[in-house]
Amino acid sequence: MSEVVSYQLKDNIGVISVNNPPVNALAQAVREGILNAINTANEDASEAILLVCEGRTFVAGADITEFGKPPKDPGFPLVLDAIENASKPVIAAIHGTALGGGFELALACHYRCALPTAKVGLPEVKLGLLPGAGGTQRVPRLTGVKAALDMITSGNPISASKALKMTLVDKIIEGDNLELGGIQYAKELIGSSAPLKRISDIKIDPATVEPGFFDNARKHLARRARGQIAQDRIVSCIEAAVELPMGEGLERERELFRELVASPESAAMRHIFFSERQAAKIQDLPKGAPVRDIKKVAIIGGGTMGGGIAMCFANVGIPVVMLEINDDALQRGMGIIRKNYNITVQKGKLSEDKMEGRIDTIAGTTDYLDIADADLVIEAVFENLELKKEVFGKLDAVCKPGAILATNTSYQDVDAIAEATQRPQDVLGMHFFSPANVMRLLEVVRGEKTADDVLSTAMKIGKKIGKVCALSRVCYGFIGNRMLGGYGREAQMLLLDGCTPEQVDSVLEGFGMAMGPLAMGDLAGLDVGYKAREGRTDLPDDPRLYRMGTLLVEMGRHGQKTGSGFYKYDPETRRRESDSEVETLIKEEAATLGVEQRKITDDEILARCFYPLINEGALILEEGIAQRASDIDVVYVFGYAFPVAKGGPMHYADQVGLENVYNKILEFRERYGEQYWKPAPLLQRLAEEGKTFADWDKEKEVG
Ligand code: 3HC
Ligand code: NAI
Repeated sequence: MSEVVSYQLKDNIGVISVNNPPVNALAQAVREGILNAINTANEDASEAILLVCEGRTFVAGADITEFGKPPKDPGFPLVLDAIENASKPVIAAIHGTALGGGFELALACHYRCALPTAKVGLPEVKLGLLPGAGGTQRVPRLTGVKAALDMITSGNPISASKALKMTLVDKIIEGDNLELGGIQYAKELIGSSAPLKRISDIKIDPATVEPGFFDNARKHLARRARGQIAQDRIVSCIEAAVELPMGEGLERERELFRELVASPESAAMRHIFFSERQAAKIQDLPKGAPVRDIKKVAIIGGGTMGGGIAMCFANVGIPVVMLEINDDALQRGMGIIRKNYNITVQKGKLSEDKMEGRIDTIAGTTDYLDIADADLVIEAVFENLELKKEVFGKLDAVCKPGAILATNTSYQDVDAIAEATQRPQDVLGMHFFSPANVMRLLEVVRGEKTADDVLSTAMKIGKKIGKVCALSRVCYGFIGNRMLGGYGREAQMLLLDGCTPEQVDSVLEGFGMAMGPLAMGDLAGLDVGYKAREGRTDLPDDPRLYRMGTLLVEMGRHGQKTGSGFYKYDPETRRRESDSEVETLIKEEAATLGVEQRKITDDEILARCFYPLINEGALILEEGIAQRASDIDVVYVFGYAFPVAKGGPMHYADQVGLENVYNKILEFRERYGEQYWKPAPLLQRLAEEGKTFADWDKEKEVG
């Protein structure tokens, strides 16, 4: 048929086999191959047609790299029409994951069988899209409107057994020979003269949909949209599935799909899809580089971070030993772990049995000898360099040769920590984000002497525990926290210049940030930044700098934990409320410092908060701290809740235009001084050459 699709008559069944590694994406050659095979099978002696895939998965969707490029024939709808209108039963046989266009391909078949381990789903929403090849029309026809809406707007895949219950799959094939099982199933269908079951023939009874269902769904989804429009369009498509005949419903779906493919939100989300996968690759190490075996993990310090990190490993069945200074601290740490698991149980996301199993995977100790056989040790004690060096000295003395010694430090010098051991090649940073069992990002910090296999192992184990890994070199705050400096600084400066906390936060939340910077400060505790600033000698001597944060802490307003900070908090609901006392205080301080207050536009708030972050990102790139601009985007989306629909700060800068960002920084330099507004040389160069950060990534990857 073609290089990627073969067709063979086996036992009177026409078997179409797709082989387009790595995930059998529906590239042009695959679409053409399937269409030709269906046409051949229609004419030959086959009694039924079986569609199977080789390699690790059934078709995982449209080829995302083709989006935004001129379409190539045959279009996917044409292929699906040919399948649904075939003259004999077409059966999809699913293994791995049938996702997006892959699942839509299966839905156009007359029957679907699957291995018990298979999963099916429509994850398009995670790319800012909707299922554009009949998914929004066929799924509600099979499962009903509500289940379809949940499945398509969440984008989460479901197991084969759940799909069977929802009638999305017709049969589970036991054993591991899917092709053989599929052929037998095809024969059963022929034997029982099973009809050509076309989902398009099903009509949805509008009476099964509650009045106001779609309006309510739109309102509910808008609350968590954060700049994404796909959910809203998915509702419109499912509404069309109820109200319109199949052909018109498909037209509507295609029209809205095209709108989304062309949207900046989807372009940003596709950028993050590929960036996430790219970030795991270390530029100077070959793919498949050797790794060390990790069978047992030790965590030093069972506080906020240590407990969460222990849970990450327990969740994937890797035994953990958590070491604390004394029994009281150990019990407290184990208690927090139990409390966190209990919340998951209460939400119905984990059974009691599984919870106990996971807690049993975590042993506690106060004795270093109990961690001597650990393959990976992650230190998460207080953020103090001397203490960390002392801990690493002890680890060096007890840990077996070849054990990887990682620090979760947020700011300390990983090389200085490594030098506290006789084996700096085994030391690196593994910087988790709070809450560690929830946040997806893991910054893997490469020390001066970190061995290649230590890095590769950290990347691999990170993926295993469900993290998105990004590599950073050593510097103060690594990629993420270093860039955050200017963001927090400007958020506070804006207050003196005339904004209210609510104004600053609502502009950034309107942009899509999960929480504005001042509300975030209140959540983390304003005392944390206050203490961190105390020891710093590199900050400019400027009374305006972090003025409000400092004053609030000195007034005992440490944020949510003391009931007030930039805002006051309702003790019951913890909901934030504007506080006129703070607003008066800001005005008084501005007057004392001689800052003239004025009305500040939303655009200025966005630029003042984000451009220092982007500028620092450019410095980080030039210094080689981050491998790629796209890695920085991954850090911000997965570690700092930067809206995925904006694609991360560097992608956002590319969209705004680097020349515009650069010129604005020059304008701010004039107005607010060079100590805070000094354009990074890389930003200036790219702006002057009319290039983007994406261009820079491409040139570096090629060169
Ligand atoms: N198109 C193009 N490339 C794809 C792809 C796709 N749909 N899916 C995965 N890839 C690439 C990845 O970029 C990666 O490339 P790399 O090795 O060069 O980095 C490679 O395939 C392997 O992918 P993963 O590293 O993600 O492999 P895993 O085994 O961890 O996961 C997977 C496999 C679950 C299939 C995962 O890749 C995935 O979720 N893929 C995307 C699925 C998806 O979103 N499908 C919907 C597409 S949109 C669509 O179908 C529109 C339709 O409605 C018309
Ligand atoms: P924490 O104060 O909640 O926990 C620290 C724990 O370490 C305490 O339980 C303490 O008893 C224990 N400890 C202290 N000295 C010890 C020793 N010598 N041996 C064994 N245990 C010891 O602190 P948290 O927030 O968990 O931070 C830990 C580390 O993680 C710090 O380096 C911090 O910078 C970093 N980090 C913190 C994040 C956060 O948001 N809290 C985010 C990312 C990193």
